[in-house]
Amino acid sequence: MPGSWQQERVINRKGVKKLQLRRESFATKFGVVAATAGSAVGLGNIWRFPYMAGENGGAAFILVYLLFVFAFGIPVMLSEFIIGRSARKNPYGAFRMLAPGKPWYLIGLMGIAAAFMILAFYTTVAGWTLEYLYQSLIGGLAGQNGDGLASMFDSFRSDTLRPVLWFFLFMGMTAAINFFGVKKGIEKTTVIMMPLLFLILLVLCIRSLTLPGSGEGLRFLFHPDISRITPSVILAALGQVFFSMSVGMGTLITYASYFPAKDNLSGTSVSVSVTDTLVAILAGVVIFPAAFSFQVSPDQGPGLVFITLPLIFGQMAGGTFFAALFFILLGLAALTSTISVLEVIVTFFIEELNLNRKTATWTASAAVSLLGLLCALSWNDALRGLRLFGKNLFELLDFTSANILLPVGGFFIVLFVAWFYSRKKIRAELSNHGTLKARYIPLYLFIIRFIAPIGLAIIFLNGVGLIRL
Ligand code: TRP
Repeated sequence: MPGSWQQERVINRKGVKKLQLRRESFATKFGVVAATAGSAVGLGNIWRFPYMAGENGGAAFILVYLLFVFAFGIPVMLSEFIIGRSARKNPYGAFRMLAPGKPWYLIGLMGIAAAFMILAFYTTVAGWTLEYLYQSLIGGLAGQNGDGLASMFDSFRSDTLRPVLWFFLFMGMTAAINFFGVKKGIEKTTVIMMPLLFLILLVLCIRSLTLPGSGEGLRFLFHPDISRITPSVILAALGQVFFSMSVGMGTLITYASYFPAKDNLSGTSVSVSVTDTLVAILAGVVIFPAAFSFQVSPDQGPGLVFITLPLIFGQMAGGTFFAALFFILLGLAALTSTISVLEVIVTFFIEELNLNRKTATWTASAAVSLLGLLCALSWNDALRGLRLFGKNLFELLDFTSANILLPVGGFFIVLFVAWFYSRKKIRAELSNHGTLKARYIPLYLFIIRFIAPIGLAIIFLNGVGLIRL
């Protein structure tokens, strides 16, 4: 029996118990939103969003970002939901089923490949959050100046043992959740982790906002200087939207394949997008007022969270406690995302290789670990020389998946729904077969036919350097 289908005893209308095959699914509405928002909320919101905003003009970047969430993020998300829930399969199987005999399944396969690549480098960074949690608990971050923290970050990354151990620990935690399946693994843990994440975020926001001089940080976040909106800021915001919302590689096709039939897809997409955006902005509210209060420049790039933030914590009252809390927040956010990416591969293995869930989970995790091992060692002396286009393996996987695979995947996903999938079926899926009004459908169709594919084509062509904006 294929592993994502379970035999269940159900009582039919005549009151007779019967064995029936049922695919796994989320049990509750809150479970659907917690799991899906859990996928979207991750390192992308708390690590990447603040440093992208910091480097790209703060409020101006955020303004463009918000616009793109509505123009591109939600429409692509809704398209993945439609594909996933109507096919009820992994991304590869879904395209095979909805477009038999056509090459669309290649998009699904590309999504599976992207899942391997994203999981390898993403879990590497997730492992760093565990090291930093550990360091903050043993007091290793306290009393260091900026140079000390920068060299600590460098020596940790180039170590042979520690990044690998933390990688495996994080991968193991991820696999342990997927092992228990959709309801008992993913849903059960995300409905606890997501509220906890919100709580920690609020505590950190209050701490940051009560620091002297925090108003300057809020100005940086919320008073846009329109002259800073340049073509490169626009492209950075577009890429950030896709990465942060988990769209473009079939994570959301996979999750939607487990949504209950009565779930309101557009409602879920709005709840998930609002949560994702709110967490990104609140992460900005944690980081920028603190940075301005301690007169640290916000445009530090990827080291912002691992170098700049510990510097700030080191100078603040209760810093050790808040540092630990922050890295717990980062780890939780990462975990609810890694399980969603691993689930893409697990569902694929279950359905296409006929493995049961447990075997599929261990096989997928082991396969990802091979790539992840190399990735976690990207800064190590042994592998540092392994470079392509001036990037080490980690940077190469990050770049290729975010700038190439996601935009290409997203482009074809909207193209498929907009131009090849039947309009009647789109309507049936969005209105739950006529039970919901879904008046927004013409607007949605207009966006996925014209606006989203053109926008995605621009990021992609710019990403690979075919056009320069
Ligand atoms: N969105 C997550 C974050 O912001 C990362 C993520 C999970 C993702 N699944 C994805 C990114 C699929 C791209 C595609 O951290």
